Amino acid sequence: MVAKIHHIGIVVEKLEVAYTFYRDTLGLPVIREAEVPDQGVRAALLAAGENEVELLEPVAAGSGVARFLAKHGEGLHHLCFETGDVGVALGQLRAKGVALIDQAPRPGLAGLIAFLHPSACAGVLVELATPWPLSLPLPSPIRLKRLVIGAKDPRATAELFQGLFALPDQVTINDRSRVMLSVGRSSLLMVPQEEVGGMEGMVALSMATEDLEALVRRLEGAGATILKGAGEMTVDPRSSHGVHLHISRYE
Ligand code: CO
Repeated sequence: MVAKIHHIGIVVEKLEVAYTFYRDTLGLPVIREAEVPDQGVRAALLAAGENEVELLEPVAAGSGVARFLAKHGEGLHHLCFETGDVGVALGQLRAKGVALIDQAPRPGLAGLIAFLHPSACAGVLVELATPWPLSLPLPSPIRLKRLVIGAKDPRATAELFQGLFALPDQVTINDRSRVMLSVGRSSLLMVPQEEVGGMEGMVALSMATEDLEALVRRLEGAGATILKGAGEMTVDPRSSHGVHLHISRYE
């Protein structure tokens, strides 16, 4: 049903301000920007390897994204899987009794889209998208690598995602408590919520770049707060619009 992650949605206060970090400093090219009235947002899709990052600015009071921003502040909001036919996928999920927000596909920024209810996916808001025809990937200096999800029971959460979205059977137990699921070239890493401040749902994003030194220089030049390690770095969420962002050298 699902071949890859299409995008990771991030709620921001102002799109123009968030561009300074995501487009200008990280270097992710903007694919498309538009207002999506039925979601009450102005949104942009930026290329990140074979995947995309979606920035969402609420423009209507009372919308889901406006409520999210008021409650949680800026940060990771949803995970979107690409599927060949969102209508068919929705029908399969409905037949399994999965809680849905959208009963039928509707046009979104990424293509024809539909949202599942977060209760269906262990606290993760999942969107399904069938991209518009001729959506060609743009080259980007950084690619998406991994989405970290805090879970009460990482193994059960991984099995839930595998079952719902027919993900390939590639569960790797790094140690007794963490479970990794491959989705295309990226992966989902389920970790015990105690390890991530008790949070359930999306907690951090990992990306990879070929030229880490150049990226470090750009981040430092832009005044971002980063913690450098060997072959990797972590960006302070205050510099990346609430996202716990880990960036490493291509392996
Ligand atoms: Co989205």
